[in-house]
Amino acid sequence: MIHTRIDMHEFVARRAALLATMPDNSVALIPAAKEVTRSRDTEYLFCQDKDFYYLSGFHEPDALLVLVKNDPALSMTEAATETVLFCRDKDPEQEVWHGRRVGAEQAEIQFKVDLAYTLDELEQILPMYINGKQTLLFAQGAQAEFDNLVFACLEVLRGGAKQGLSAPNTIVDIRDSIHEMRLIKSDAEIAVMREANVISGNAHKRAMAFAAQGQFEYQVEAEILHEFAANGARAAAYGSIVGGGENATILHYTDNDEVLVDGDLLLIDAGAELSGYAADITRTFPVDGKFNEAQAALYNLVLESQIAAIETIKPGSNFAIANKVANEVLTKGLYELGLLTGELDTLISDKACKKYFIHGLGHWLGLDVHDVGDYQMDENKNQLRSFKAGMVMTIEPGLYIDAEADVDEKWQGLGVRIEDNILVTETGYENLTTTAPKTIADIEAVMAK
Ligand code: GLY
Ligand code: MN
Ligand code: MN
Repeated sequence: MIHTRIDMHEFVARRAALLATMPDNSVALIPAAKEVTRSRDTEYLFCQDKDFYYLSGFHEPDALLVLVKNDPALSMTEAATETVLFCRDKDPEQEVWHGRRVGAEQAEIQFKVDLAYTLDELEQILPMYINGKQTLLFAQGAQAEFDNLVFACLEVLRGGAKQGLSAPNTIVDIRDSIHEMRLIKSDAEIAVMREANVISGNAHKRAMAFAAQGQFEYQVEAEILHEFAANGARAAAYGSIVGGGENATILHYTDNDEVLVDGDLLLIDAGAELSGYAADITRTFPVDGKFNEAQAALYNLVLESQIAAIETIKPGSNFAIANKVANEVLTKGLYELGLLTGELDTLISDKACKKYFIHGLGHWLGLDVHDVGDYQMDENKNQLRSFKAGMVMTIEPGLYIDAEADVDEKWQGLGVRIEDNILVTETGYENLTTTAPKTIADIEAVMAK
């Protein structure tokens, strides 16, 4: 079964676009992911390599995509480009035990490649695609086993000089080109991400309506996962963070095994993966459904900074501008709450809020939750790149006050993060996170029901 919601013609177009960036007389190799053992003979839920998926739409492990750009001098005898997929062969016995396989014959048709071979043919045929090429493009170092396979092919070619074989003399990392493409989302990708956000936001709403004193954090997580799967998103895009009380101050808390207590805040960072694309949403709310004064003050400050940062987003803007605005709002607010002391202008220029806002403001979002794409734009990598229509990012300010911090005890152990997913449009931005309650009034209303 093809699991993608992106039309196969879009995958064909992506391959063509990547081929257009490749030098003449080159070959690119993009391997699928391997299954990962959980214990003995059980595996984790398979997650396809995102670069491979982006270019192929193919959902099985162990496969290999080969993109060939031939020497234009040979255009009379060879096609200008070739797209080739190696994949697991049909195998009735294996399929009875482990599930269906597409097989090379069907893969060629369904995934619209020029040619598909079985993996049994890889060792013999792959060197022939590399032979005579000037440049080999692949992600050296990403998969040790695949590196070994490639180097074995190169040895075969180098050892076959007498038979007229030759190995490429240049190896180029293919990732930069693929990742630049992935950074700008197509309309079809945006539609999937919008839907992933709707589902994920509804899951946060469901968690708010469900959470109560005495439940384990993982029971709230179960509600979230149910809402994802019940609406077509089989799995979470990353390990859900469901942290009550002081656990909200642990940035990547995923134990989710403690009991919720009235009077505490609950921080949930959870997003669905839909057709390979991630949502990444955080909401923070009181277990008992009512923010106390200190919680409300901290929450509204984070919310104010998030809204101010989001409002800076438009083509030509950048993360530095959004950061500056968020830092100013947070620092001023923390000063007014007595959590920062000193001279306000100095505190702002020192970005004093970083004492409690201990992570970045946001990141690219797409097939990966921390998506690919360079954050810099000039050759020296020292200038933040400008936003362009089609980029998607998170904006996720947070404040975390250690339980032992030398502050009034009403602040101790509080953690608040609010995270939305923002698309850059031609004229500004679209907030994809539309269904997760965010104001105190909206959260309290959902929890009161
Ligand atoms: N869920 C991880 C993050 O927000 O970056
Ligand atoms: Mn997150
Ligand atoms: Mn995030």
